[in-house]
This record gives sequence, C-alpha cells and structure tokens, in this order.
Amino acid sequence: MNDTADRRDTPANQQWGGRFAAGPAAIMEDINASIGFDKKLWRQDIQGSLAHAAMLGKIGIIAAEDVAAITAGLGGIAQEIEAGTFPFATALEDIHMNIEARLTERIGEAGKRLHTARSRNDQVATDFRLWVRDALDGLTVQISDLMRALAARAAGHAADPMPGFTHLQTAQPVTFGHHLLAYVEMLDRDRGRLADARRRMNVSPLGSAALAGTSFPIDRDMTAAALGFDRPSANSLDAVSDRDFALEFLAAAAISAMHLSRLAEEIVIWCSAPYRFIRLSDAFTTGSSIMPQKRNPDAAELVRAKTGRVTGALVGLLMVMKGLPLAYAKDMQEDKEPVFDAAEAWALSLAATAGMVRDMTPDIARMREFAGSGFATATDLADWLVRVLKLPFRSAHHVTGTLVGLAEQKGVDLAGLTLEEMRAIEPGITAEVFSVLTVEASVASRVSHGGTAPANVAREAARWLSVLS
Ligand code: ARG
Repeated sequence: MNDTADRRDTPANQQWGGRFAAGPAAIMEDINASIGFDKKLWRQDIQGSLAHAAMLGKIGIIAAEDVAAITAGLGGIAQEIEAGTFPFATALEDIHMNIEARLTERIGEAGKRLHTARSRNDQVATDFRLWVRDALDGLTVQISDLMRALAARAAGHAADPMPGFTHLQTAQPVTFGHHLLAYVEMLDRDRGRLADARRRMNVSPLGSAALAGTSFPIDRDMTAAALGFDRPSANSLDAVSDRDFALEFLAAAAISAMHLSRLAEEIVIWCSAPYRFIRLSDAFTTGSSIMPQKRNPDAAELVRAKTGRVTGALVGLLMVMKGLPLAYAKDMQEDKEPVFDAAEAWALSLAATAGMVRDMTPDIARMREFAGSGFATATDLADWLVRVLKLPFRSAHHVTGTLVGLAEQKGVDLAGLTLEEMRAIEPGITAEVFSVLTVEASVASRVSHGGTAPANVAREAARWLSVLS
C-alpha cells in the first residue's frame, strides 16, 4: 500500500493539523485511534479539564469569562455523553480531542484556550490515574463485601468439622468456618495491596505538560487538590511516562484473582458428586443439554478461568512498558484496554464469588463423616502419647504409624481398635486415649493462636464481622 492509498478523504486533524495538508491513510486512522476504548475516560477527562480551566482562570492565564464558558460547555458535553447523543469521531483519535473539539464547536474561541499549559501527555496520565483510582475504590468495596459474606458463613459454621487437606489428602479435621476465614485473610491482604497502591498513585501529573513542564505560571497544587491528589508530581518526565499505578493495580488484581481462583476450584471440588460437601442452587449453576442429572458450577469455573486474562493483562502491560525510553511514546496508548478488561473481570469474579458463598448449602453431616475418615485424628493420638506417656514426638509418630497400619489391615478407624490391640504395640496406652480420637475432640483441642478450635473460629468470625460492619 502506498502512502496515498485508501485515504478517507478527511481533512488534516483540526487539533494539530497546522502543518499537515491532508488526513491520514485509513489504516493509520485505524491503528492510531483509541476513542473506541478510551471513551471510558470521559468523566475523568472532564473532571481534569474543569480543574485545569479553574486554575488557568485563577492565575489569570485565561479570562474569567472563558472559564465560565468552558465550565458550562463541559457540563453540556457531559450531558450529551450521558444521553448518548455525543458525536464520537474516530478522526479525532481519542477522548481528549473528541471532547475538546466538541467544546470549541459549542463555545467557540474560549474552547481553544483550554489546552494552554497542558498536553495530551499529562492529560491522559491524569485521566487514567483518576480512572484507576475510582476503579480501585469500587473494587475495595467489593472485596469487603465478599469478606463479609465469608465471615457470616464462617460464624454459622464455626464448630462444624470438615476434613482438612494437604496434598488434597485427608490431613487433620478443621472446621468449615476456619476454612472460610482463611479466604477472608487472603482478601484482606488484597485490600491492603490496593490501599498501598492507592497511596503511591495519588500524585497529580497534571501540569507536567508534554514532558518538560511549562513556561506558564501554573498552580499545580491547586489542580492536584481539586482532583483529590495528595500533591503534584515532582518530575515532569517521570509523570508523563509513569504507568506504575496501572501495573500495581494489575499486580494486585492478578494476586486477588488467583485467590478467587483457588476458592472457585474448591467450590468446584466441593460440588462434585464424589464430594458433595456443598450444593449450589439453580441460581449459580447450569444444566447439561444431554445429561439431565448434571448441575454444573459454571460461575465457579469462569471465576477460575478469568484469572488467566487478569494475569495476562499484567504481563501484557509490563511488556508494553519494558523498553520505552523517556518520556511519552504512543505505545502507552496500549495501557488502557488490559486495565479496563482486568478491572471488569475482577469485579465480575468478586460479585459471582460473593453470590456463590451466600448461595451455597453445605452438607454438614457429610463433611463431618469425611472429617473422621482417613485416620484424620492420627496426629491427635501421637500428641496424646507425647503428652500423657511423655514419649518423644518421633517415637509417638512411629507408634501411631504402626497403629494406623493395624487399623488399615482390619478395615477399621483408629477408634475401632481395641485397647488390647493398642497395648500390644504400646503397653502404656490407657482407655483415656479414645477421648482424643473423635473429630470433635480433635478440633476442640487446636486452641493455639490461629488454630481451628471452634472457640477461636467463632471469635475470629465475630471480629471480622465487626471490622467489616
Ligand atoms: N490517546 C493517547 C494515549 O492514550 C493520548 C496521548 C497522546 N499524546 C501524544 N503525544 N500523541 O496515550
């Protein structure tokens, strides 16, 4: 294709077309335009422009009448966009030029003064930061909601035993409440990562202009404060080329999505026919078009899968950024779609997970039955030998292993062995040992800080519910 091929017959861009005689090739317009996705930034773009115009007016860089016209004009544009009547144009590339061109259409000369002492480089850095900050705040609320759902279920099942696994092999009994609260801890760290990222991102790039700052006597503290930022950025080159805020957001998203994926995987396992630990209602399952007995946990599977795209977004943006010399390069326009997509996937996953947690009906009797199978209280027997007979733990482990082997041979549980059979292996054992072999005794004994004892779990669930209220 030569450079005159397939032009769309557009005139040179009205925002920067002074030295351009003609418009771009069609393919140039297609690859260059971001309006298809960055229209999502319209609220932040208007917010930034309002703050910038007010500052220009206060300093006297533009006249008060111009500020009034710009403010009213931007208000009208917000209404148009909300009503769906705004004429978005691909030829105007992005949300910044679409809004500015429309402003000039609506208010004339004053509209052309808005871009004094700024550039699209600091403008987009500001808009995108504001968008990520808003998304981060919304997601924090959603994470808290899921934590609340988990803590409420945990409070209801603080004393209900289930098998605890390592290697997905029966290990020791835990309570269902304890298991659910493990996810509350993970989600709390996810909130913490967002809070940390928010603190670092809350710096205003506005007024860094294209890359070097500006010769106009602007007040960057004023615009920073108006936009809820803690302070203006210290280095103009860094400010227009920094996308760490988006990367930190995506890193927090990737870790949190990984947590949600683990819970989703457990839900899939718990719902499966061999387990049947929980049941999801019609509201969170689908049927099969061929197998009438099926009740598929599709929501959980999709939460598990969305982790892939969230992590992909993080890796994708890291690759976009990794070789960029200072300062702005158009590569950075590719920062938005992964963030928008990951934010949406994360929000959906949080909402679906909260829905499933509230919806699920645990089968307490079945969990209790399996909690006691697989010699789950073998550690309790070993601990008893240490505590009562003063055996060294390694010896107790050996004795218990021999008893487990014997029980396995006879096809019974540890509690199914007779006292005589036990004494044949360790003569010191007394009938008292049977008191530690029940699932209830096992979980009740785990009173160490952070352990699964029902009293601990009830206290932790109550603490979380009050923290989250
Ligand atoms: N649409 C652009 C972006 O998303 C805005 C900044 C363009 N700046 C420039 N110098 N071409 O990055």
